[in-house]
Amino acid sequence: MTASGPAEILDRLRALRAGDAPTHGGRVLSYVYDSGREDLDELADAAARLARPLNGLDPTVFPSIAAMERDLIGFTRRMLHGGRGVAGSVTSGGTESCLLAVKTARDLWRQRHPDAGRPRLVTATTVHAAFQKAAQLFDLEWDPVPCGTDGAVVAEDVIARLDDDVALVVVSAPAYPSGALDPVAAVAGAAADRDLSCHVDACFGGFVLPWWPGLAAWDFRVRGVTSISADLHKYGYAPKGVSVLLHRTRRRHRAQFFATTRWPGYPVVNPTLLGSRSASPLAAAWAITQHLGADGYAELTAAIHRVAVAVRDAVDGIPGLAVMGDPAGPAIALVADTAVLPAEQIDPHRLADELTTHGWRIQHQPGFTQADGVRMPPSAHLTLTPVLEHGVAEFTRALRAASDAVRGRPPARVRTLLTGMRLLGYGEGGRVPGPKAAWRLLRLAGADHVSAEQPMAALMALIEQLPAPVAETLLTELLARISEP
Ligand SMILES: Cc1ncc(COP(=O)(O)O)c(C=O)c1O
Repeated sequence: MTASGPAEILDRLRALRAGDAPTHGGRVLSYVYDSGREDLDELADAAARLARPLNGLDPTVFPSIAAMERDLIGFTRRMLHGGRGVAGSVTSGGTESCLLAVKTARDLWRQRHPDAGRPRLVTATTVHAAFQKAAQLFDLEWDPVPCGTDGAVVAEDVIARLDDDVALVVVSAPAYPSGALDPVAAVAGAAADRDLSCHVDACFGGFVLPWWPGLAAWDFRVRGVTSISADLHKYGYAPKGVSVLLHRTRRRHRAQFFATTRWPGYPVVNPTLLGSRSASPLAAAWAITQHLGADGYAELTAAIHRVAVAVRDAVDGIPGLAVMGDPAGPAIALVADTAVLPAEQIDPHRLADELTTHGWRIQHQPGFTQADGVRMPPSAHLTLTPVLEHGVAEFTRALRAASDAVRGRPPARVRTLLTGMRLLGYGEGGRVPGPKAAWRLLRLAGADHVSAEQPMAALMALIEQLPAPVAETLLTELLARISEP
């Protein structure tokens, strides 16, 4: 390949970016969090650029990093009603905050149970998948507690699982798939009575629920809450790559660190999982919080609340469509209204596909059968953001039109394909395909060229009905192939 000039390279990047889903304007109701304020984006860009050459590995060499971290941790601590003993770190995102919350609790648990085996990690089924990843990486047994079909978990069901072998119990504020606020006070109080750690995963809600009206306390005001994660790159409106993890005490926070002098290189002290790390997302988040302050976040949250009311009112008026449970914040899951006849119901995956043709993207969530047999229905997730206030009338119109177009259409079926896969030995308890076979199966399913515009209902049906190890292998293959040169 011959070298290109900067202008040509940037033109190529612009052309590539033109194929992306829009990151601004609120038409994509997941992944991106648009405040609707250009001034915030410009401020974040300028701050990120100033901090770009820094290495977050060593704040003693680059004290600006420590100064920005102090301000961000202080801001988050005040927002979450933490006392002066509450200590924390800035991480690269929600997953890293969740991983570190689990690793810290596991290490503290091991200190107290040096001879015990593998501890448990107790959560609701709806807890973010990052906690499954943490259990895998840090060798805990994930113990998910089933929810009702409304996506809510019952406190007593979680409490019944608490025992000495539990390194951590996690509650979500709110849970991403259902939008439900877990019963934080009851679970954290029970954990405290048993001297167990309790993490509140507020990665999604951390920078919006503090100003959401009518919620019970879920932060450090609650007895028994030992750590909280809150993402700045979600409702903090910072670019991707920044989150905060807070611990109730300094002692707990210090258990998060890795430090070694046992090699011939520089002494290593890492508060987080990464070594060298970019300071750009930190600087951008710092600048935004300095500019917005608590009042700015309160205003943006009020806009989201108005959007949530408008969307829920609209859904109430659409026959065959319903909101799952009673979401407490800006995440809403749409489901078929099973109180009406199937001919009147709206399949959320068909709806999501149809909405794409109207220029709106909501997120497919497959139905999920839990350990107790209770099936959480297929749904479509909506992340509501402040910018949507300008387009909520257009969105609800599109929602009504798309609902009318798909009402009564049954969920997608992939029966022939599934039978074929079973015959090939990929059924329940069967084998798992290798890369070549997985790719062939994806091509057979017509799912080898997934793009944002492509209908997803059939792929979701496949995910719902295949044994999880097979579905996971196919999805791994799909994503790996996308980036293969
Ligand atoms: C409740 C919750 N926890 C954790 C995460 C993981 O965050 P990230 O995607 O930043 O790693 C998410 C992401 O949506 C979330 O909603």
